[in-house]
Amino acid sequence: MAKEVVLSGIRPTGFLHLGNYFGAMRNYVRMQEAYDCYFFVANWHSLTTHPDTKELQQAVYRVVAENVACGLDPEKVALYVQSDVPEIAELYLYLNMLAYKGELEKTTTFKDKVRLQPNNVNAGLLTYPVLQAADILIHRAVKVPVGKDQEQHLEMARNFAERFNHRYGDVFPLPQAFSGQQELVKILSLDGNGKMSKSENQLNTLYLADTDDMIRKKIMKAKTDQGPDIKNAPQPDYIQNLFTLMGLVSTEDTIQHFMHQYNESEAGNCIIRYGDLKKQLAEDMIRFIAPIREKAAALQADEATLKRIIANGAEKARASAAVTLGLVRKAILG
Ligand code: TYM
Repeated sequence: MAKEVVLSGIRPTGFLHLGNYFGAMRNYVRMQEAYDCYFFVANWHSLTTHPDTKELQQAVYRVVAENVACGLDPEKVALYVQSDVPEIAELYLYLNMLAYKGELEKTTTFKDKVRLQPNNVNAGLLTYPVLQAADILIHRAVKVPVGKDQEQHLEMARNFAERFNHRYGDVFPLPQAFSGQQELVKILSLDGNGKMSKSENQLNTLYLADTDDMIRKKIMKAKTDQGPDIKNAPQPDYIQNLFTLMGLVSTEDTIQHFMHQYNESEAGNCIIRYGDLKKQLAEDMIRFIAPIREKAAALQADEATLKRIIANGAEKARASAAVTLGLVRKAILG
């Protein structure tokens, strides 16, 4: 039986961080054996917010290197760069006729970007979700491992696919966001305000390229409070986020130890010491990030290997994209 198709992408707009890893890349690595996987660097998407392209190529290389350093095997998956697959642009053109101005203007990410860059509200920004749908549908992917912030884009991709099928005949399966667990993941920034993101809150984001000292410094500054007032208190989201990060990098014993202390703490008898928790988390985080950082740095210095990986990925991606585009053209143009 043919394997199910999986696709996901990352914009090369800054250093990759734990949110990217936990929300997306961890699942890429987990899925690479059992699925037919396509993972790519969304360099066209980055142009909607980063018009200056001086550092774009290096950023593309870094994303590729970091993906491989996290455990992605370019022999098993297609790891490619969006702009190497022109078939995506043609599908984007067709899908644009099925996307309406009203729904695009209502997209949360569009509204955020209008606030952030009022002088550059370009049409690419408005049709960002259409290009994302083209990325997914060009391989007729069914599972899309992403973090919670991409949920709405996935819903839109399903809508565009449904409209296409309805108007021109069944070409696309309907893609679903995937996290491997019930909920899609959202890693908060270390100050508890909003999500970790590549370009904002540099000191509140843990990057896969951070030095050991930087990791310690950032985690020790993470937001905590004076401790729970009652036993078994619900956790404020910034405390829960620290436990989520522990869940990623610490042993089960360590997590249970601090969880027990948290649940036994109450006003006047605070057993948990957040300073100790953060110290432990920082050391466990270093053990996790340091090898990724080093592997990624070594690969980034090896441009020949990176180019080979990217060329192989493009070849695999274009083969799959050409088949879908053949079906699309036949359905629309006859
Ligand atoms: P991007 O580049 O912003 O993020 C890449 C992936 O990381 C996830 N992520 C997070 N997950 C949990 N907590 C966080 N704090 C966090 N921050 C980022 C994102 O959900 C994403 O999975 N539009 C996409 C790129 C894209 C794409 C696609 C994704 C273009 N085409 C097709 C899937 C399919 C984006 O901007 O991701």
